[in-house]
Amino acid sequence: MMRALLICMASCLLVVNGGNIINRCALAKMLHEEDVDGFEGYSLPDWLCLAFVESNFNISKVNENVDGSFDYGIFQINSHYWCNDYQSHSENFCHMDCQDLLNPNLLSSIHCAKKIVSGSGGMKNWVEWRLHCLGRPLSYWMTGCHLG
Ligand SMILES: *[C@@H]1O[C@H](CO)[C@@H](O)[C@H](O)[C@H]1NC(C)=O
Repeated sequence: MMRALLICMASCLLVVNGGNIINRCALAKMLHEEDVDGFEGYSLPDWLCLAFVESNFNISKVNENVDGSFDYGIFQINSHYWCNDYQSHSENFCHMDCQDLLNPNLLSSIHCAKKIVSGSGGMKNWVEWRLHCLGRPLSYWMTGCHLG
């Protein structure tokens, strides 16, 4: 009885604290494991800055655009081009459901983002990255992170 209560308290607290926000260093580790560091010339801090300016590290963020499309997940990937949300026409270049981009394991998001990054324009495809991360010192994004 007491134990069940404790378990509930712990998990309920996680929900209240926003279980959808990923810790910066945990994200760095996942990105590192998926070999993004140096991919197409972008560093790990570029990816962290991208995730921060797009979603504030919110892995379940969904945002509707004025054109009726939606942006999904930690990198705010757009449904008109990259994933299928079954609500409007999509090119679905990443060949996945937009819902996959909300998975906490981040594998689909990283996989699709790599596809975008390897296309023309690279990370400049994300306007917020171009405005807030491009050409700035970014190494502090890794402060205190150990990749193991
Ligand atoms: C994360 O995004 C979801 C969906 O957009 C939103 O409901 C939630 O409030 C966000 N979490 C935080 C802590 O901002």
